Amino acid sequence: MNVLGIDIGGSGVKGAIVDTKSGLLISEKIRFPTPDKPTPKKVLDEIKLNIIDELKWEGDIGCGFPGVVKKNKVYSAANIEKKWVGLNIEKKFHKKFNLRCKALNDADAAGISEIALNKKVKIKGTVLVITVGTGLGTSMFIDGKLIPNFELGHLKMYGDCAEKYASNLARKKLNLTWKEWTARFNEYLAYVEFLFSPSQIIFGGGISKYFDEFGPELKSNCKIIPAVNRNNAGIIGAAISFK
Ligand code: BGC
Repeated sequence: MNVLGIDIGGSGVKGAIVDTKSGLLISEKIRFPTPDKPTPKKVLDEIKLNIIDELKWEGDIGCGFPGVVKKNKVYSAANIEKKWVGLNIEKKFHKKFNLRCKALNDADAAGISEIALNKKVKIKGTVLVITVGTGLGTSMFIDGKLIPNFELGHLKMYGDCAEKYASNLARKKLNLTWKEWTARFNEYLAYVEFLFSPSQIIFGGGISKYFDEFGPELKSNCKIIPAVNRNNAGIIGAAISFK
């Protein structure tokens, strides 16, 4: 089955058609910058124009969203307009595009993709997926089973959310060197590991394409591996979790 995977992010919206059996992208990947003040209307208008019309898509859609999503409904929106909170993405997409859509948290989507497709991932034990981008997304799997909406980017560090301290946005805003940012991220890792002791950590999100730069400097009690599908994991996971 082919499903259009869409990954709504704080700085970019990405989409591609995915073969849900193999997890392979079977269209070009389209990315456009998240509009300023990204209200549902603005984002949906742009998705229609740039992704759905461009790919001439008429099938099902799986959508990753950067906030808590339960039964397709949004419960939080840290890095996107608050107008999303309370919105049912399935219903809204259907009304707007007349297509079936299922939504889930973006880090959950990335994790689902990695558990399904990354041969280096252990299935037994607790696996923590961290996606580093505008925010810090996290998903947790126990023996391969997802605990949805595991929001560890919002643990408190220095009086604010950890993501304000260690995300890629923090790195960019403060113009941190890789060394400086890695030192911050290692503090975050130590905190998370102390609380949850995962057996393995998968590193994903926008910054994972630079894993070779900082990966060897990451400190952890368990093995940290980059997401095999890097930043495409969100698109793929959103598509393969369409049910
Ligand atoms: C949100 C998470 C999301 C992460 C990455 C956080 O601010 O609360 O739900 O997964 O950003 O987008």
